[in-house]
Amino acid sequence: MLYDDFYVKSLIQTVEDWPKEGISFRDITPIFSDPKGMRMVVDAYVHRYIATDITHIACIDARGFLIAAVLAYELQKPLILIRKKGKLPGKTISQSYDLEYGSAELEIQQGAVKEGDHVLLFDDLIATGGTLFAAIELLTGQGAEIKEVSAIIDLPDLGGSQKLQENNVPVFSLCAFA
Ligand code: PRP
Ligand code: ADE
Ligand code: MG
Repeated sequence: MLYDDFYVKSLIQTVEDWPKEGISFRDITPIFSDPKGMRMVVDAYVHRYIATDITHIACIDARGFLIAAVLAYELQKPLILIRKKGKLPGKTISQSYDLEYGSAELEIQQGAVKEGDHVLLFDDLIATGGTLFAAIELLTGQGAEIKEVSAIIDLPDLGGSQKLQENNVPVFSLCAFA
């Protein structure tokens, strides 16, 4: 299905002062309850990544999982889960970070990726980029190469996507809210 920016953006709801005062929260929940919107978003990514040399799709707990899992299924690529602290069994590597409205810690399982892997890193939204930089650290720390960071929404005013590009990380987003 052809991507319609106006349609997808009209599904995303803005909730003011949540989860903290001063935050304009961009809620993607309605995309998942709208089969047409979901298909549009997934198809846009399938189209973008089907003819690439990406070997793995990595995604970030929790909202990043939702589209990435479908994409990995469609592209028949291994899906790597980067999770919030304490959720992954076995030997893990951790990275703490700050995001727009707090701080947290992400983890990956040791051996989840290796040198020579070409990773598409997926999350739902780029704000300050803190979350994605932490995930990049976890992936590149094990030798993987980030081919692109991909999100549904970019919030360019928060500077994350620009900072990623300044660090030579290719960035793609379907839409932006300025
Ligand atoms: C949200 C969003 C991104 C991150 C972006 O995750 O899903 O992962 O913030 O912010 P940043 O660019 O400033 O780092 P959050 O951890 O709040 O919630 P989630 O578990 O629902 O994904
Ligand atoms: N994650 C970080 N900042 C966000 C925002 N403004 N809306 C939704 N998710 C976010
Ligand atoms: Mg998140």
